[in-house]
Amino acid sequence: MPEPTPTDPHWFKEAVLYELYVRAFQDSNGDGHGDLRGVIERLDYLRDLGVDVLWLLPISPSPLRDDGYDVADFMNVDGRYGDLDDFRALLAAAHDRGLKVITDLVLNHTSSDHPWFQASRARSAGKDDWYVWSDDPGRYAGTRVIFTDSEDSNWTFDEVRGQYYWHRFFGHQPDLNYDNPDVREEMKRVLRFWLELGIDGFRLDAIPYLFEREGTNNENIAETHAFLKEIRALVDEIRPHAFLLGEVNQWPEDTLPYFGDGRDEMPLLFHFPVMPRMFQAVAQGRVDAIRWILERTPAIPETCGWVVFLRNHDELTLEMVTDEERAFMYERYAPEHRMRINVGIRRRLAPLLDGERGRIEVLHSMLMTLPGTPILYYGDEIGMGDDLSLPDRNGVRTPMQWDASPGAGFTTAAEPFAPVIAEGPYAAALVNVAAQERDPESLLWWMRRLVAQRKLHPALGRGAFELLDAPDPALAVFLNTYEGDVVVAVHNLAETPRSGELPIPRLAGRTLRLVFGGRSCAPAPVGTECDGRALPVALGAHGFAWWSSVPHAEER
Ligand code: BGC
Repeated sequence: MPEPTPTDPHWFKEAVLYELYVRAFQDSNGDGHGDLRGVIERLDYLRDLGVDVLWLLPISPSPLRDDGYDVADFMNVDGRYGDLDDFRALLAAAHDRGLKVITDLVLNHTSSDHPWFQASRARSAGKDDWYVWSDDPGRYAGTRVIFTDSEDSNWTFDEVRGQYYWHRFFGHQPDLNYDNPDVREEMKRVLRFWLELGIDGFRLDAIPYLFEREGTNNENIAETHAFLKEIRALVDEIRPHAFLLGEVNQWPEDTLPYFGDGRDEMPLLFHFPVMPRMFQAVAQGRVDAIRWILERTPAIPETCGWVVFLRNHDELTLEMVTDEERAFMYERYAPEHRMRINVGIRRRLAPLLDGERGRIEVLHSMLMTLPGTPILYYGDEIGMGDDLSLPDRNGVRTPMQWDASPGAGFTTAAEPFAPVIAEGPYAAALVNVAAQERDPESLLWWMRRLVAQRKLHPALGRGAFELLDAPDPALAVFLNTYEGDVVVAVHNLAETPRSGELPIPRLAGRTLRLVFGGRSCAPAPVGTECDGRALPVALGAHGFAWWSSVPHAEER
């Protein structure tokens, strides 16, 4: 069995993540809910896709009013997904295939069904102040509401206790009171529990909100950082080099402190604001929006990394954009009101891009060549669609489409937990894994080639990144260098072909070879060589090309 804890402390920079919702992935027992045994059945598929780390949405017992982000028991597995033995079996089967498994850990809040909350609202001794209670809903007035479509306050009155409780998300998700040392100790016990079970890491949900302090916006409080440092120390003690990814949906300069000194807080953080700008750049046919945010992204400690993504289980968030950019994004990508939620867009990748293969490819090529560890969201590798008739963010969490059968190969149950997409251009009968397996030109096969190419080049992930100037603003030119490895990725963001020579004087004398290109581009056959000084660009609409100075493996 491969060693699950790598000795290379920065292995995560070269990893590719795959985010999946257990409930929607594979049902192994016909009850209509995906489960952990189902994920085990599909591990070979995930290995063949080439991903390294599976990120599972929360798997603990939950009333599922927020798909598991409303936890009712931190040290167990929801019965619909299986049990702890199933989770152990998943870890072992994944490790056998060289895959790692992480899950969400929701530190900030619990479900209101959690026994701790039930005890706290009843003022039971010992649990009385495990949550943030107040007689005055005017407290912490400077705090924004996050779920703007469903909540108008961060306080909800509890009839049982006769006081208000604090919550940054849904009213059924009361925030834990981190000023209470018992809460801090208990959550560390939770972490220890999963680490000792053998988990490879966590995505730490909503970490900026742990502590509250009057007179602030209650985000990024010093005590929150101090607690996260305790968590990092605990993880290092039990499982050094674990995959520890923090969710901080903020501007890069506000996110930076969560890396700590590079060794004592989060090794990995999402780069949220670059995401909408990739979509913006493709819609505008210009690289400017990407340049703007990258120029505002400070250098980070070498021991740390960004994590980048195109879509995930939430809305495509437009919190970290200007009002003008938000208006543009809504108009282009969410013209109908029902496509919007909170401050964002509740659509999947393929429908956002009108199912156009060129746009899908050019965005993924950027995802793989920007600085950071990329995430793929389940179903996007085959171009799945969304179901806007479902409420909230459920439309992007529908059953995985494995084949053309009525249950899409996801389930044999007549009534799955959510309907399989059965109509329109994204119906399971048309968009499914089995059909794409048979077609070497399919998106699935293309994604496999993309992931494989990414992993051939240590410069992607580990390298120093530079956005090069190009004479044509439609071209996004990314240079990644790491030791001897150089990768230049050229993207045509425009809807029209672009050609010419791209001067890169600093690569003069290097022989570059074209190693990968989109099917909508025809710069030259893969394998063509040139002097790095002048790259011949002949890219079709949304075409892209990767040039590398590294010889192919068989020639080394
Ligand atoms: C998760 C959401 C969830 C929220 C509350 C977010 O950061 O990504 O899906 O609703 O936290 O836990």
